[in-house]
Amino acid sequence: RYRDSGAGDKMNPFAEQEAWEEHQIGKATLKYGSKDRKQKSDDFQFVFEDQIDFIKASVMDGVNFEDEVPSESLDKSMEKSAFEKLQEDRKTLPIYAYRDELLQAVDNHQVLVIVGETGSGKTTQIPQYLHEAGYTKRGKIGCTQPRRVAAMSVAARVSQEMGVKLGHEVGYSIRFEDCTSEKTLLKYMTDGMLLREFLGEPDLAGYSVVMVDEAHERTLSTDILFGLVKASASFAMEMGRTTIWAREGQIRGGKLDIARFRPDLKLLISSATLDAEKFSDYFDSAPIFKIPGRRFPVEVHYTKAPEADYLDAAIVTALQIHVTQQPGDGDILIFFTGQEEIETAEEILKHRTRGLGTKIPELIICPIYANLPTELQAKIFEPTPEGARKVVLATNIAETSLTIDGIKYVIDPGFCKMKSYNPRTGMESLLVTPISKASANQRAGRSGRTGPGKCFRLYTAYNYYSDLDDNTVPEIQRTNLANVVLTLKSLGIHDLLNFDFMDPPPAEALLKALELLFALGALNKLGELTKVGRRMAEFPLDPMLSKMIVASEKYECSDEIISIAAMLSVGSSIFYRPKDKQVHADTARMNFHTGNVGDHIALLKIYSSWKETNYSTQWCYENYIQVRSMKRSRDIRDQLEGLLERVEIELMSNSNDLEPIKKAITAGFFPHSARMQKNGSYRTVKHPQTVYIHPTSGLAQVLPRWVIYHELVLTTKEYMRQVTELKPEWLVEIAPHYYQMKDVEDPGSKKMPRGAGRASQD
Ligand code: CDP
Ligand code: MG
Repeated sequence: RYRDSGAGDKMNPFAEQEAWEEHQIGKATLKYGSKDRKQKSDDFQFVFEDQIDFIKASVMDGVNFEDEVPSESLDKSMEKSAFEKLQEDRKTLPIYAYRDELLQAVDNHQVLVIVGETGSGKTTQIPQYLHEAGYTKRGKIGCTQPRRVAAMSVAARVSQEMGVKLGHEVGYSIRFEDCTSEKTLLKYMTDGMLLREFLGEPDLAGYSVVMVDEAHERTLSTDILFGLVKASASFAMEMGRTTIWAREGQIRGGKLDIARFRPDLKLLISSATLDAEKFSDYFDSAPIFKIPGRRFPVEVHYTKAPEADYLDAAIVTALQIHVTQQPGDGDILIFFTGQEEIETAEEILKHRTRGLGTKIPELIICPIYANLPTELQAKIFEPTPEGARKVVLATNIAETSLTIDGIKYVIDPGFCKMKSYNPRTGMESLLVTPISKASANQRAGRSGRTGPGKCFRLYTAYNYYSDLDDNTVPEIQRTNLANVVLTLKSLGIHDLLNFDFMDPPPAEALLKALELLFALGALNKLGELTKVGRRMAEFPLDPMLSKMIVASEKYECSDEIISIAAMLSVGSSIFYRPKDKQVHADTARMNFHTGNVGDHIALLKIYSSWKETNYSTQWCYENYIQVRSMKRSRDIRDQLEGLLERVEIELMSNSNDLEPIKKAITAGFFPHSARMQKNGSYRTVKHPQTVYIHPTSGLAQVLPRWVIYHELVLTTKEYMRQVTELKPEWLVEIAPHYYQMKDVEDPGSKKMPRGAGRASQD
């Protein structure tokens, strides 16, 4: 086992993939691993016969199976044109009956809170209604989504409903991907993208309506948008009254001034939760428009005892439902925490259903998660063929962002991946965490949309009532704020402690963000944006990455640095490692690490080699590199190149000398330095903590004395991912305000002459 980090593990840098994962979740410890699962699938017959009690009780009653399930082919002549069918479908949505009332309310009020069950048609219909009513004559209609996949898939759906090409009248904009054009009237986008649009257009002049959708998700960007749009709207409402200046303390300086008065801008806040009063109160008692939902009763079942392995329990439950229930009666939705879990579940389900023979109807497995390739995303919305059943394996995205028709059974293991942040150490981590009661109820509700449903909670009723929080803590209270602080500062909002947050972030986290931005040189001692900060804010990246790019000007290697930044921003794995060719894949990967150059330089080498082959797909295959990830990095790189031009940094290349490149990386990531201790462990220099080099790193066997890392990930241990060797004196040279000689001296070695540190500070 990798966790024990014995010598054997070092032989296999990918040991983690096969290793057991262990998540500390509340009091319980869950253990599961692929080896274990495979074993179980061989013993499947046994597991299967050993029915889970609650399933037996609720599902097994009186169900008879036919030997063959008739699958009649569709009568093609009965098929309407797809477009007509879509128009009819639109009219069956709950929101349709309230179309005129809704338009009237939007007309009468500048700010409107809209509440309706998931699937009632808010996201797809409201922008279309507004378009039909003529709002797009005055400007675009923008609709924000917390998730990329939702923005893309909803835009695709709406373009179909309107019979236009995606990217023309209806488009979407997500980070590094703009699928809009001059023609675009309805623009779906991530909340983060609208936030960035504020930077270029603080009065949102191009918009007639902004709909902040999925408001209940309370993502960081949504919360910041609330503050910004409220400011513009309430200024407008208070125009001409003296009270307007009472807010001056909150919004001062540069861009957020009188030019932002937009009495004509309509603001819609839409949410799936019924407690919309909080939104209404925040927006100066804006009226609430409730779309009466139709919800069928949902039977909720709990396990009798806690499940040790929720992944396995979920799969067994799904199979139980599948074999005991008539196939035509409804599909299954299972909530997992992320891509890896979904892929594992998919594999096991495939394996196990293969053994079920022909007597059991087909089970169509549909995964959906953020990084799923676009062409595969559409699959979850395809109607289930007669005689088959669909099982959707989803992340939280299916909780409220996406509605999949035909779901009757929901399986809820009760966990999600959640970001948490420790303002003291500045460490951010993504952990598997129990969901809130509100989430559990949203999940259950997914089963009762088109008929009575059933929800199987893989935890006990006691867990639900006693252990789960009522609501999820808003992201703003559990995340690193450096990025939004930089954005707000660029918008001229200086007094962050008095910014009108719906729920304020912890003061400690705000201070930490200010400290980091100061250390990076983005803010001066008075907390004002510097020229460096202004340039950094142009990049849609974390401040440390932005700083690395801005610093590349000084080290004359911007060409290389943006390639590295692009490769670090891809978000999916660069390497391809098929089970049957692991040795070849590892050899190919290690080729890029020749000379122990470090992971950043290895990424650069991969990008450059691919570019030399004229972006060859064949080259990717030969080198076990994911083509899709490389194409994405190329797109990102192109955009970064454009942004370099905007901040007037010349594209300069210096590929023969690695030192300036490493120094530019250090200029952005100096707060992430670590020094080796005994037994291959490291100690971070600031906020000391024991960490390890990730086994997939090219330096995992090399163990340099000093390293700089891109990020920390917590799996079985706290790992540094993407690591490069560092000369400690660089820290003092590059960040003299942050490090002193004593920080970088080896404790055992002779002391440097006093004053050496101080001298370099000047
Ligand atoms: O926003 P809300 O949850 O109120 O509903 P919506 O997302 O507008 O969904 C309305 C209908 O459109 C549902 O029946 C969805 O199944 C359907 N839809 C779809 O078929 N494909 C999409 N990509 C999005 C929605
Ligand atoms: Mg929606």
